[in-house]
Parts: sequence; structure tokens; C-alpha cells
Amino acid sequence: MPKWLKDAIFYEIYPQSFYDSNGDGIGDINGIIEKLDYIKQLGCNAIWLNPVYDSPFKDAGYDVRNYRKVAPRYGTNDDLVRLINTVHKKRMHIILDLVPGHTSDTHPWFKQAKQAKKNNFSNRYIFTDNVWNAPAEYRLMCGLCERDGNYMVNYFSSQPALNYGFAEVTHPEWQLPMDHPDCQATIKALKEIMRFWLDQGADGFRVDMADSLVKNDATKEPTATIWAGIREMMDEEYPDAALVSEWCNPSVAVNKAGFHSDFYLDHIGNGYNMLMRGGSWGDKAFFNKNGEGNIRAFVDEYLPAYLETKGKGYISLITCNHDTPRPTAYLDEEAIKIAYATIFTLPGVPFLYYGDEIGMRYLPNLTSVEGGYSRTGSRSPMQWGKGKNFGFSENDKTYIPVDPDKNAPTVEKQRRKKGSIYKVVKDIIKLRKKRPELGADGDLEILYAEENSFPFVYRRDKYVILVNPLDHLTDVRFDFEIKQDIYKIGEYVQSWEKMTLSPQSFVIVEI
Ligand code: NOJ
Repeated sequence: MPKWLKDAIFYEIYPQSFYDSNGDGIGDINGIIEKLDYIKQLGCNAIWLNPVYDSPFKDAGYDVRNYRKVAPRYGTNDDLVRLINTVHKKRMHIILDLVPGHTSDTHPWFKQAKQAKKNNFSNRYIFTDNVWNAPAEYRLMCGLCERDGNYMVNYFSSQPALNYGFAEVTHPEWQLPMDHPDCQATIKALKEIMRFWLDQGADGFRVDMADSLVKNDATKEPTATIWAGIREMMDEEYPDAALVSEWCNPSVAVNKAGFHSDFYLDHIGNGYNMLMRGGSWGDKAFFNKNGEGNIRAFVDEYLPAYLETKGKGYISLITCNHDTPRPTAYLDEEAIKIAYATIFTLPGVPFLYYGDEIGMRYLPNLTSVEGGYSRTGSRSPMQWGKGKNFGFSENDKTYIPVDPDKNAPTVEKQRRKKGSIYKVVKDIIKLRKKRPELGADGDLEILYAEENSFPFVYRRDKYVILVNPLDHLTDVRFDFEIKQDIYKIGEYVQSWEKMTLSPQSFVIVEI
């Protein structure tokens, strides 16, 4: 386990939309370097950078054309190395995005694979043996290549799946077993890409669709064995580098595949989704002040996963990410504050999505940009302050339009405003750093989390945290003696063995 990870508080940067330093309307690496102090002042000490590699951008860069080259719109490889080094100078860490499951259909490997003549890359992707063979259970692209066969995709049509083999070979005429030398060669190629960036100083990777490698893999254990092998390489060659998976199943991702942390993601109706977004437009979200939420949806999923992975790795809770509607789409400002305060006082390694700290809006109904579709609304330019495009870019046209609301929150305004989301995030991060019991490794005990009932109360060592999302008072049995208040949004009153919490409150007390 890389030592730094337990204290890491990540800031996710969507490079297109963070800061445009050269006025072309799109964010870039030099822009990120300029804003590192901002991230540091907020208290985040680690960065997850979304893909910055050469790409035709059919899926915002998750369609990689060259894993080893920075896309010119973001800068050069040297710029990325400079970013990495500057991050390190500021005693921060940075992980890059690794896309192991697919490439762009313009990647040179794929250009070779789709040729009729057999070559070294014919098995780098998954093709059926002829175009008339297109079993409906697979996502196959038919009739697009000179090669007589259909290729399997991993995500969009322009993202052919790399071939790591099939756990269960059901069509031997075109499916390869995992131990086939060509599937092993794919793993080797992946490791080389990882080494390439780790050798330049990257502190690890967030791994895209980490569970997607092996096909016909019902249990995901075969996919996990590939990662376990990669983890071995990391332990041996790069023991300080971290691997964070987009898997959303920590007991497999951490315990079997060897990821250091696994994201708890927004899958409709899952426990994380039900915290801030559940139901239709958040009406069933736990943090919605209407009180229709149910904390059990979260606790029943999270707690067993936490207990199973405790001591082996982490669960990463996110405020949001580039695929997920920003919580502002569903919750008012007070609700957001207590939601983030909760997320940042639970165990594991938390991730803050750029702009969430200032309450940036989810912008509905935007025309899709680079395969964003509904996700485009969560990817709009960062709002820094006054001035053109809220200080994001000098260009008349930005990558995605900026928030049309002139009164949209900005860093400048949020920094000045009393009790702003920005201040809550900053304070909570500070607190978490100062009191390790509230951090990644500290114990967690759930004290009160009842079906369709409020508040939510949990204990982290000598601290008790009480969360009342409701728009009215609520109380709970509480027989601890309070030594001191540690943090409060709202108020509480303790009388007899009862604690009464003001509407939309979040309280940390030391007992
Ligand atoms: C998950 C990424 O977060 C998302 O943005 C991307 O479109 C897919 N994986 C495909 O790579």
C-alpha cells in the first residue's frame, strides 16, 4: 500500500474544463499548473487527471489513439512531466487515467487488426471469424472492416474491446482463452504503458472500467487475476504508486484484484446513488430535506463492503464525477454542505470533483460534446471569478458553454461568502487532516441508521457525527457525555439522554 494514499484527498480534474492558459477555449496542462495552489489551499493533496492522451475525442479522450502521447490541445509530454514534478514539489500526488479495456478505433493497433491480412495485431482485439457470425449476446460492429469479421466494442462503437481472452470460451471458432499468447501479449502491452508513465513520475492510475477486461466473465474473478498480476508488478517495481479502480465492487476489486481503492459509483438505485440523487430528481435521496430518503440503502451496501475490505484497501466515495449529474441538480445548498461533510468524514479515500466545492450547477439540455450526452452538463468550464467565461478562458467559444446564469457561483464569490459550500469543504478537509480518526483508516461504527428514519449517526473513535438532512427538527437517543464540539452546521441541544438537531444540520462532537 503506497504510504501517501491513506492521507490522500483527491481532486478530480477534467482537463478540458479546468483552466485555459492559452486562450483556445479549452483547458490545458499549463492551466492546471497555474491552479495547483488553488487545489492545495482547498486542502486537497492529490489529483486524478482524466485522460490527456492523443485521441479523436469521440468519448472525451476515453478513446485513446496513442497511450504515450499527450493530446496537443492539452500540451506536450514535457508539459505533463512538468505538471507531475510541480505537483510533487508541492507535496501532492497525481494519478493519471488508464484505459485498459479498449482503444479508439483509430489506434494503430486497431488499424492493423482490421486488415484482412493476418498480422501481429490480428488478435489484439476481439473479432468474430466472419461477418455473418454475429451472436446477439455480444456488442459487435458488423461490416465495417476489410477483415472478414465483426469486432466487439467495450463502450461506444468507436471503442473496440482489447482482447484479454474469454473466461468461458463458448464460440471456439473466434474466442481465445485467457492463456492464449496473444491475450497475454495484451497484458504485457498494458504493463508497458503503465511503466511508461510511472517512469515519468506519475503516482499511479485511476483505472477505467477495470472490471471489463475478460469476456464471458460472470464472476469477474478471472479479470481480477489479471489485475492481481499487475499489482504484483507494481509492488515490485513501483511500490509507491496507487491503483484506484472504477469497478464498484470493493470485495472483488480490493480483496481479489488488488486495487488499493475502489470507487463507489453512481449506479442507479445503489446505495451511493440513494444518498444524493435517488428517485426521480432526488426525491428519494437521503440528503433531500423532504425526508423521503432511506439511509439503509447506503448503509446496507456500504457497511459490509467496508468491513470486508478494511485493512486491505479503501472505498472511494465521490462528491460526483464526470459521468454523474452534479448533486446541485437534486439538492439545495444546505443539503449539499451536509452531504459533502458526511462523505468527507467516512472512511476511505475521498474524491472531490472540480467545481463541486463551489456548488457548480449541473447544466441540463446541453448539446452533447465529445460523447458526453447527458454527462455534458457536469463537464462545463470551471467558474473562477469575474470576467469573461468566469475567468476560465479568454476565447469567445469554450469547449462546453459556461453556465449561462450570470449569478452562477464562482471561486471568488464562494471564498468571500460566509458558510459557503467552499468553506465547508475546506473546513472539513482540514479537520479530517488534523484528526486521523476521521480519516481513511479510522474505525467506523454505525450508531443510528434506521429505515426511513432520521437522523443518521455514526461514530469514528472518539467522535460522534450526527446528520439531520430534514427541513425540521429531529431527535435521537444520545447518552454520551460530550467533551467538546468539533464542528457544526446548524445546532444541537442535548437534554436528558436525547439529542435534538436543528433542520439540515451536521454535527461532530467529541465524546
Ligand atoms: C468510464 C469513464 O468514466 C467514462 O467517462 C467513459 O466514457 C467510459 N468509462 C468508457 O471509457
